[in-house]
Amino acid sequence: MSPNTLLAYKKWAKDYDTHPNPHILVEHQDFVKLTDPQKNEKILDAGCGTGKYTEEFYRAGSDVIGIDFCPEMLEIAKRKNPQIEFLKHNINRGFPFKASRFDKITCGQTLKHIRSLNPVLAEFYRILKPGGKLIFSVTHPEINFEGFEMKYRPNFFLAEESKIYHHKFTDYFNAFDYSGFLIDRIKQVPVNRTIKHLLTDRSYRILKGRYEVIIFRLLKPKLRSL
Ligand SMILES: C[S@@+](CC[C@H](N)C(=O)[O-])C[C@H]1O[C@@H](n2cnc3c(N)ncnc32)[C@H](O)[C@@H]1O
Repeated sequence: MSPNTLLAYKKWAKDYDTHPNPHILVEHQDFVKLTDPQKNEKILDAGCGTGKYTEEFYRAGSDVIGIDFCPEMLEIAKRKNPQIEFLKHNINRGFPFKASRFDKITCGQTLKHIRSLNPVLAEFYRILKPGGKLIFSVTHPEINFEGFEMKYRPNFFLAEESKIYHHKFTDYFNAFDYSGFLIDRIKQVPVNRTIKHLLTDRSYRILKGRYEVIIFRLLKPKLRSL
């Protein structure tokens, strides 16, 4: 059977918080730092999963909404944080939000499941306020898994079960141009201590310092540039 992203996350949902996504562990600190959530800021967390980032932004005092297309992931997110608004929505479709609603949009490790970046980024642009920021992370386009060896074989491999699009740097840059975003910051995040316990000692020695994730922070300019 061909990989199906929705089915993959339905399957992973119940274990997602106890068998965490290694990319999220690696990027977490930098992702939150680059998002810099502020009190009363309106944030959309797109592809929120079980709501890890959503919860963190809520705790910082932001007015946050989480969206995801997987009901099983959302159910866990809602159970943990019933006070936060979570909506089921496929980000390949137009968002049910009016223009210029959000100060920030975050999208952690989700755009790799999206075939056409242009329409999604154009929608993010539409619902951000002028001066607003989009912070998103993906697997690093030049990732090299050679030498990657886990201590224990997990019973779930996202790469095998879901559909992942390996967008190149030019694909991202073209989508930024198409939608009107300007690059504000780029942070490449290497394999680091946060996943040391998951890898064999040999593998960690080989991989340490090799780029695993990239985080883009994009700006919707106050005046649309040429
Ligand atoms: C790798 S997980 C990341 C979850 C979360 N951002 C985190 O920090 O743990 C990717 C999430 O994107 C969601 N997703 C994938 N494709 C989607 C789509 N087309 N629309 C909405 N959500 C999607 C999945 O259901 C999953 O929860």
